[in-house]
Order: sequence, then C-alpha cells, then structure tokens
Amino acid sequence: MYYFILAFIRFLEAYEAYNISFWGLTTENEPTNGLQYNFSFQCLGFTPESQRDFIKMHLGPSLENAGYGPKKIKMMIMDDQRFLLPKWADVVLSDPEAARYVSGVGFHWYWNEISPPELLDITHNSFPEQFLLATEACEGSWPWEHVILGSWERAEGYAHDILEVSI
Ligand SMILES: *[C@@H]1O[C@H](CO)[C@@H](O)[C@H](O)[C@H]1NC(C)=O
Ligand SMILES: *[C@@H]1O[C@H](CO)[C@@H](O)[C@H](O)[C@H]1NC(C)=O
Repeated sequence: MYYFILAFIRFLEAYEAYNISFWGLTTENEPTNGLQYNFSFQCLGFTPESQRDFIKMHLGPSLENAGYGPKKIKMMIMDDQRFLLPKWADVVLSDPEAARYVSGVGFHWYWNEISPPELLDITHNSFPEQFLLATEACEGSWPWEHVILGSWERAEGYAHDILEVSI
C-alpha cells in the first residue's frame, strides 16, 4: 500500500518537474475488477468500504502532506460502473473524514442497460457538492467485438450516452 501511494505522488512530482500539472485523479480504475479472481489486467480491488478507509487513512492524508490536497488536485472516487451508484457514493461520502479529500465521482458506461441514468440524479441529490464525471466509455469493448469502420450505430451509442449523462 505504501508503494501504491508513493506511485501517485512520484507520478505527480515527475510531471511537475516538466511543468505539467494535473487537475484531478481517480483512486483507481474499476476497483471492482480487482475483486474478481485472476482478473486479467488489474489485481488491486476495493469495496466501497475499503476505498473509503484507504482514502481517509492513507491516500488522502499522504497526498495532502505532499502538497496535493483537494485544493490543488481533485480526487474522484469509484471510477467504475454506474450500477454501483448510489451505494458506492453513500458509503464513501457519508464519512466526513473521507469526503473531505474527495471532489467528485467518476463513472463508466458498461452495463448501462441495467442501470438507469436516474442513479446519477439520486447521487447528485445526496451529495450536490460533489461533481459527477463520465470517465470512460468505449464502443466495441467486449472481447468478441472488433473495429467497425464507419459505424453510425456506434456513433449513436456515444451520442446517446453524452445526451444522457450531460447536464
Ligand atoms: C518550468 O518552468 C520554470 C518557470 O517558468 C522554468 O524555469 C523551467 O525551465 C521549466 N521547466 C521545464 C522542464 O520546462
Ligand atoms: C489466470 O489467468 C491467466 C491468464 O489469463 C491464465 O493463464 C491462468 O491459467 C489463470 N490461472 C488460474 C489459476 O485460473
């Protein structure tokens, strides 16, 4: 865990040495994938409870001590499928000690068929001070799919999502 936190700080510092600053970061891409046995491309998993505790006891204070507190860089939680809302946000953001380090909630679009956009409204109404940001969407992402050049169907998929999640 120490090295994981150090990696965040070293990454930010290394870019800063070249005058490149970041406005935000997420705690981890798709933390629920890491909870699946032998998942193929990442092995760190978080539940909302363990992410909350990780932020409040480790990542949040360490970033702040390194000069990357919430005023300097906006931390987004979850960064995973929107069907995990509103529970994920409820668990992390109901704890004021964790929430003080958090600025927003990142969400992805896979499985939107089973998760209505109203989940975003519910989350927003519970935590209006936090922003909600669509952080990943990709047509043709399933292992059995491939590139389809000139596909308007896929373009419409993006357009539909942009209309649905923008306010
Ligand atoms: C970063 O900005 C400072 C101040 O403008 C400048 O002195 C320095 O050369 C820059 N560093 C790089 C790597 O561009
Ligand atoms: C884990 O995944 C790798 C690559 O996807 C596979 O080669 C390996 O057999 C898997 N191991 C187990 C114990 O399922």
